[in-house]
Amino acid sequence: MENNNLPRRKFLSNIAITGAGFVLGLPQIANASDNGKPALLGGPKAHPGGYSGWPLFDSTEEKAVMDVLKSGTWGRLGGNVVSNFEKAYSEMLGVKHTLGVSSGTSALTTILGAMDLGPGDEAIIPVYTFIATYNVIVLNYALPILVDTDIESFQIDAGKVEAAITPQTKLIMPVHIGGTPADLDKLMAIAQKTRIPLIEDACQAHLAEWKGKKVGSYGLAGAFSFQASKNLNCAEGGAITTNDSDFAQTCYRFHNQGQGGHTTAYTPGTGTRATNLRLTEFQGNLLLAQMTRLQAQAKRRAENAAYLSAQLKEIKGIYPAKMYEGTTLSAFHLYMFRYDRQHFDGLSRETFLKALQAEGVPCSEGYGQMNRDTYVTGLAQNKHYLKIYGEKTMREWLERNQCPQNDKLTGEQAVWFFQNMLLGSHTDMDQIAAAIRKIKKNAKALAKL
Ligand SMILES: Cc1ncc(COP(=O)(O)O)c(C=O)c1O
Repeated sequence: MENNNLPRRKFLSNIAITGAGFVLGLPQIANASDNGKPALLGGPKAHPGGYSGWPLFDSTEEKAVMDVLKSGTWGRLGGNVVSNFEKAYSEMLGVKHTLGVSSGTSALTTILGAMDLGPGDEAIIPVYTFIATYNVIVLNYALPILVDTDIESFQIDAGKVEAAITPQTKLIMPVHIGGTPADLDKLMAIAQKTRIPLIEDACQAHLAEWKGKKVGSYGLAGAFSFQASKNLNCAEGGAITTNDSDFAQTCYRFHNQGQGGHTTAYTPGTGTRATNLRLTEFQGNLLLAQMTRLQAQAKRRAENAAYLSAQLKEIKGIYPAKMYEGTTLSAFHLYMFRYDRQHFDGLSRETFLKALQAEGVPCSEGYGQMNRDTYVTGLAQNKHYLKIYGEKTMREWLERNQCPQNDKLTGEQAVWFFQNMLLGSHTDMDQIAAAIRKIKKNAKALAKL
């Protein structure tokens, strides 16, 4: 649990004191060679080693799975393992209630079900997110309103949220993308002023903090994913966090076929739809086992990210994603940065990514332009949407979803590294930075490929 509640500045200075590589950064940087030919042109790899595997597990996880198997109680109804996980997760996050569910998508679905989102309603979401954030709105035949991205932070542009609000807006759902908090001060202020509930899609943001408090504890509810790639993983799973006891009960009922839960705030006519989105005891125990590693892994990712950023900031044309003032801890599910080809002799992002991969540095351009994807634009022709909203509204919807900053970010600039790469050593980080410097030095030759 160390460091978890430290303010950011103190947390980072602790890293500087305890992380010898950070203090002795310069000699290590000199060791990671950016000389010689790029690997894409036949030279040696800047990062010849591998990265941490994912998931990490040992006999703790083996025992967790076997204990449930042998108990004969495999589902949560009748068992107590999922409940134990929920208690532990609530404690770790500093929230009153956690409800384990079958995925991050299920967490969002349950929240929206408990809010009774439906046809004719609008929901504000960022355009820069995994498609699940959009899908859960559309499954309820509500209208997703996509808000442009703050290109510097990759997060929803909080300054553009108010303009997207209409009398139909039922919720504002920022995503803490990459595991870094969106601008919660601005978003909470809008939610309070307009009395529109804020839902945090924290599916990538386990343990991330805003002003020393965990994300997922700010809005009416938070949604987490435990899908296999996530920083906390049980293959497939998710959780809802909330401080609202009535809302927690409504969520429980929604995810359990309308059964269980005993809220006093039941309003006839609501809470009349439900499904089964329960988490199993196997997943609950696997999560408890994985949680024994979570704090230490989060600390290491944050240390390595700070160490890497210190080097990347020195390279013109590489801009690590900005974090807002209130960020006291990022989960670094992704390490995101912008690439500007103008400072790399015009080398395209595509070739930059190929060259990085050849150096032994896995990377991706990340999300595409959701608002331009035919999967999304096709909604304007969906027969049910046309029936509910009409042709004019759906045509206007396409117009409302223009996101010029996001076009620029996704079309030319965004680059991602992955959370497991940050579980390595300072030498790994030195070599990643050296790979980029080597590509920059040889950008002209690479651009000719
Ligand atoms: C931002 C975001 N929202 C929602 C989800 C959905 O989570 P799951 O895959 O567990 O359904 C994900 C998963 O990648 C995500 O990244």
